[in-house]
Amino acid sequence: MAGIRESSIGIAALPATAIIYSGPAFADPPLSYLSAFGPKADSTASLTWGLLIISILVTAVMTGLVIWAIFRKRAPVSGPGPEPETHHISTFNIFGWGLGLTALILAGCVGWTMMTLAAIDQPPKTPAVNIEVTGNQWWWRVRYLNDEPSKNFDTANEMHIPAGEPVKVTLRSEDVIHSFWVPSLSGKTDVIPGQLNTTWIEAREPGTYQGQCGEYCGLQHAHMQFKVIADKPADYLAWRDNQLKLAPTPAPGDPQAGLVVFEKRCGACHAVRGTMAGGYLGPNLSHLMTRSTLAAGTLPADQGDLAGWISDPQSVKPGTRMPHVPLSGDEMQLVITYLSSLN
Ligand code: CUA
Repeated sequence: MAGIRESSIGIAALPATAIIYSGPAFADPPLSYLSAFGPKADSTASLTWGLLIISILVTAVMTGLVIWAIFRKRAPVSGPGPEPETHHISTFNIFGWGLGLTALILAGCVGWTMMTLAAIDQPPKTPAVNIEVTGNQWWWRVRYLNDEPSKNFDTANEMHIPAGEPVKVTLRSEDVIHSFWVPSLSGKTDVIPGQLNTTWIEAREPGTYQGQCGEYCGLQHAHMQFKVIADKPADYLAWRDNQLKLAPTPAPGDPQAGLVVFEKRCGACHAVRGTMAGGYLGPNLSHLMTRSTLAAGTLPADQGDLAGWISDPQSVKPGTRMPHVPLSGDEMQLVITYLSSLN
């Protein structure tokens, strides 16, 4: 999987951040809004750097003036001898210059911000891909919309997009306020219950771009991650065609027995295309193993972590809505075998 490439300025400026964010081995590169990987983020990253540099300059100048004021020579209050020579600076000059410069700098920052917001409001061309993302405590439902509803499909927490194409994202919430944030592609957009918000994202090049819920939404807010995976257009179409298929038919034996257990014990909350499992409360698992993580970026998607997650969800992600479903050792093994076949 291609990773996010840091620009040289990002690396030079962020050694401390890189250390803070160095997570488990499966984690992708850090969330970074200081380097941009798409046309929308280009404008906001320039604005961020510009405002940062202006703020640093203002702080430096103000600090210099304060130090100068402390150490400048003053006339003695009284004393014998001739009056020393002093430089009188008119009060008007100090206030005039201070107010004028401050107003000019602030107005410039406001103007630049407004121009940036206007420039990124709409994508450069009509998006060909239309995704509906729904925030849930604490995961993301991702529905790909098509003019032909039979070609809609659901996935969760990992969305593929074609590189070099703008993608429209419509945001819904099923519980509380969340915020959709892919810092290297786009700023935050709130995800509000009872309201449809829209935004757009575009990645210039193929790669994986880390996303994160950007609004505190409860106990597992930090474990409400997602990925935007930008593919070459042909790879994107191949991925989409696979997602549209029914889930793979399990082989006779254990996988088939696993499906029976899954339908009975897990199917009230989870859906798998083409089976009796049609639940809506939890993520759609039709092609589970085409994703790289489980539980919204909490665990890598492998058999061991899948077993750990199913057997004790509360210890992995305290507060999660995923209930503990008591399964015997055999049933657990069968369910894992079945889920592992869902490519
Ligand atoms: Cu959802 Cu924080």
